[in-house]
Amino acid sequence: MKNSQNTACCTPDTDATANTNVDCCSPNAENQNKISNNKYAKSNPNYLQSMFGATDLTPLWLADMDFKVAEPITAEIQRLANRSNYAYEFNSGEVFSAIANWNKRRNGLDLNPKSFVQVPGVLTGIALLIRELTKESDNILIQTPVYHQFFKVISSAKRNIIDTPLKIVDGRYEMDWEDLTNKLVSNDVKLMILCNPHNPVGRVWTKEEIQRLSDLANEHNVTIISDEIHSDVVFAPARFNSIASVTDNRHIAVLGSPAKTFGMQSISQGYLYIADQAMYEQIKATVGSMYLDHGNVISNYATLAAYNRSEDWLNNLIDYLQDTIKWIEKFLRTELPQVKMYTPEGTYQTWLDFSGLGLTKDQLNDVVVKKAKLALTPGDWFGAGHEHFMRMNLASPKKQVQDAFIKLSKAVNESL
Ligand SMILES: Cc1ncc(COP(=O)(O)O)c(C=O)c1O
Repeated sequence: MKNSQNTACCTPDTDATANTNVDCCSPNAENQNKISNNKYAKSNPNYLQSMFGATDLTPLWLADMDFKVAEPITAEIQRLANRSNYAYEFNSGEVFSAIANWNKRRNGLDLNPKSFVQVPGVLTGIALLIRELTKESDNILIQTPVYHQFFKVISSAKRNIIDTPLKIVDGRYEMDWEDLTNKLVSNDVKLMILCNPHNPVGRVWTKEEIQRLSDLANEHNVTIISDEIHSDVVFAPARFNSIASVTDNRHIAVLGSPAKTFGMQSISQGYLYIADQAMYEQIKATVGSMYLDHGNVISNYATLAAYNRSEDWLNNLIDYLQDTIKWIEKFLRTELPQVKMYTPEGTYQTWLDFSGLGLTKDQLNDVVVKKAKLALTPGDWFGAGHEHFMRMNLASPKKQVQDAFIKLSKAVNESL
């Protein structure tokens, strides 16, 4: 779908601009057509106005991608469009096998294709698991700063949020094991939501951390819901470790989707993976009773094209993002040392700490939004006490990210 106003090509390193109307390049050097559409939520002027009070901003806030999807996904959707027939077609079994094969290939993980349940999206899956596995007023644990929708999905189900904030140890976010254990016990927590890799801080939890968390949950009879939507964007030497890899997974449900990995936010669905047979049957029955697993043939075929035929595209994306991250590290070191980046081990989000500037929340907003003209996600969306942080989405043309940091540096220097 090409927008008539924007027919030019952009190369990531030369001509991408920060204009909100020219927001889409491919990370693949051979495939760099620009697509633009200001109806995308991220660059939609109405959203920008209501969130940031301005429309002339470089949109780096929402966690989606400016890049074209992999060619096999486009080809598959075109094939379906040409078919002109959308009769009932249930092919989720094929999708589950593709996801299992993908996990075996990329993560060495053995998943049983019969333990998946299809759901319309990851958040729908979390909302449903919360309602099925806990009751009103139960306590659910999260680790802030964390994906802001977790607050809503818990409170709208009338459950209570128990927060055990992550702590920074030697410049890196870690779980606070002592606080976590105390809060599990003293609040009689029934369920915890793990974010792995963790949005927004970019941690990819190690095998030891995952195993320790699972042991703790088993000891205290707590169910873990593991949101693994970002699991495919992981930067070496980090390696992804699914909670499904732990030895005793009685109390575990995994959620995933190709949405983030392949930039399919508006055309993909989600899945649950539940190894425990009793929990699987309970959830499967509820999902089935609401017909939530009906599936969508376009999403299913796009998902198959993604997992079966788009691995090179993903590897290329990861390399591209790693280059962008290296550039930012160097830029911050030399040009803007007052701003600290928590270098992501995974996800295409980066968590920036502006506390070195010594500004109030409003002053920081003036620098970032009014002067630098950037739309970044405010830190306090992810939990109280993070007013001096902002999250930036890096799945944009490198040149656009570079320009954003250059503008930021100029704005900071003018404000000092
Ligand atoms: C951690 C996390 N979970 C879930 C979602 C949303 O998933 P879905 O659109 O499938 O509900 C996002 C989107 O940014 C996310 O970052």
